[in-house]
Amino acid sequence: MKALEGVKILDFTHVQSGPTCTQLLAWLGADVIKVERPGVGDATRKQLVDVDGADSLYFTMLNHNKRSLTLNSKNETGKAVLERLIKECDVMVENFAPGALQRMGFSWERIQALNPRMIMGSVKGFGPGPYQDCKVYENVAQCAGGSASTTGFPDGPPLVTGAQIADSGTGLHLALGLVAALYQREKSGRGQKILAPMQDCVLNLCRVKLRDQQRLQHGPLTEYSQFADGMDFGDATPRAGNDSGGGQPGRILKCKGWETDANAYTYFITQAAVWENVCDVIGKPEWKEDSEYATPKARLTRLNAIFETIEQWTMTKTKFEVMDICNAVNIPVGPILSMKELAEEPALRDTGTIVEVDHPERGKYLTVGCPIKMSDSPVEVDRSPLLGEHTDEILTAILGYSDEEVAAIKQSGAV
Ligand code: COA
Repeated sequence: MKALEGVKILDFTHVQSGPTCTQLLAWLGADVIKVERPGVGDATRKQLVDVDGADSLYFTMLNHNKRSLTLNSKNETGKAVLERLIKECDVMVENFAPGALQRMGFSWERIQALNPRMIMGSVKGFGPGPYQDCKVYENVAQCAGGSASTTGFPDGPPLVTGAQIADSGTGLHLALGLVAALYQREKSGRGQKILAPMQDCVLNLCRVKLRDQQRLQHGPLTEYSQFADGMDFGDATPRAGNDSGGGQPGRILKCKGWETDANAYTYFITQAAVWENVCDVIGKPEWKEDSEYATPKARLTRLNAIFETIEQWTMTKTKFEVMDICNAVNIPVGPILSMKELAEEPALRDTGTIVEVDHPERGKYLTVGCPIKMSDSPVEVDRSPLLGEHTDEILTAILGYSDEEVAAIKQSGAV
């Protein structure tokens, strides 16, 4: 028994944002039917190809545990099949460009008329407003949602982050909306439509920066490096480098081997409650009693010097030694882990977060499994479907077409 067992999802998603949402729902037990254009499929199948002739990792890593049905939704027979799917499914998810679904002839009003219990989730770049008709990819939304303007160093340009907060982040937001709507439908008997705009979801993830925007009106942001450096803050939340986004100052510091290893660094937080432990660990016990260092407030204007001193110590240790020494005395630190190190981490293999999957075209590859661990809804990660692999079984077993009808549908070029 899985949490979403029995829930049928018409997955009309492509690229990353929508597929992350439906992959998560599949891991929670839903039957996810991915609808793809015949002969073409999700564009990511053939993007960033590393093994000739095989679906790319971009596609496989976003489409596990789904079934693939090819269907031309602009062909009349294809539209009739889609209607049947809409009547049969509980949830429909799409992330086409604004207006694309309507152009196919499937407005929300029509979908609702076909199936009043349908829960329909959409990802768009922007919500209603001046940019509602724009096509949007990850980095566009990172920029429009406030992430880029607040990421990077004060003297450098805005930066995008490697974490796909706009695509995968929005997919996560949408998944929550869909699950909540399923719960609400239990009581109301009605479906509803859900919109997750990427700009809004990025802004939600950047809410501490809107917090700082408002704090700026009451004075400088004392935990930012700019304060210790005596720099002007301007009128918008500035980029904060690697400064901690919370009330406990932190920085990324070099560790042993940094000269040759790009990831020989640690994040180090000077947690106020364990300041005395920090002083002992770094060999500065005299700072414990020194009024210039003893309180968080006194330290604020000395953060650069403090972190330079801590770095003198971290540079004598590997990032893992720093982790062991500091965690033993409750100082929060984090090694900068490379993708190579994460891929090889046994603990992540043990918990099913890094999973090896076998694929008929490409052989074995690694993927990220379900990061949500539920005690009563276990997850097995199954390979992504080949294009149209399940077309016949969906037409017959789910939609109830006879063999003759399936032959006619094929004849029409709809699948
Ligand atoms: N059968 C027939 N036609 C199909 C089809 C199918 N099964 N699946 C898709 N199509 C058609 C669409 O109807 C559309 O046709 P139209 O332009 O005539 O209306 C066409 O394929 C292209 O779809 P579109 O969504 O415009 O793709 P794109 O590659 O041009 O744009 C995005 C890609 C991601 C920029 C765009 O879809 C978008 O902005 N999506 C919303 C935001 C989003 O999710 N972005 C992040 C993606 S990770």
